[in-house]
Amino acid sequence: MIKVLFVCLGNICRSPTAEGVFRTLIEREGLGDMIGVDSAGTGAYHVGEPPDRRSQAAARKRGVDLSGQRARQAIAEDFTRFDYILAMDRDNHGNLRALSPDGEEHRLHLFLDFAPGAETRDVPDPYYGGAGGFDHVLDLIEEASRGLLAHIRKHHL
Ligand code: 4NP
Repeated sequence: MIKVLFVCLGNICRSPTAEGVFRTLIEREGLGDMIGVDSAGTGAYHVGEPPDRRSQAAARKRGVDLSGQRARQAIAEDFTRFDYILAMDRDNHGNLRALSPDGEEHRLHLFLDFAPGAETRDVPDPYYGGAGGFDHVLDLIEEASRGLLAHIRKHHL
């Protein structure tokens, strides 16, 4: 099984959304038994909390249920448990590189590198912004999720 971990700062907005969108995509494609999906935050501020209600509402409008998720913090062992670690922005990427054990950095990617058409390399943090930010986050995540799945199909399935 290929295992994929999405990581943002709080694990209550962007990475839970990516976990939900990507899981929904692979289940729709009949790949639920082939690919494992999880998410985590570089920070510990929201550990144990469900996703932000604004993220849940925006995802629900697109048929993605985030309600069962609970936030956890990323740990060094994630680099031996997951094949792909997808950072939502360059800050997260830098913090994850610092967390990575020597020789395991190749597992780490910037998520939007799988969305080459996107106008940005960072999924913007919607936490302090308006509701529109959550839909923009979903647009970016849906595009990168399709790109990531195409990459996994090509290299592993
Ligand atoms: P996330 O958004 O990284 O997409 O989960 C954030 C949520 C909470 C905070 C920062 C970012 N915070 O500082 O509490």
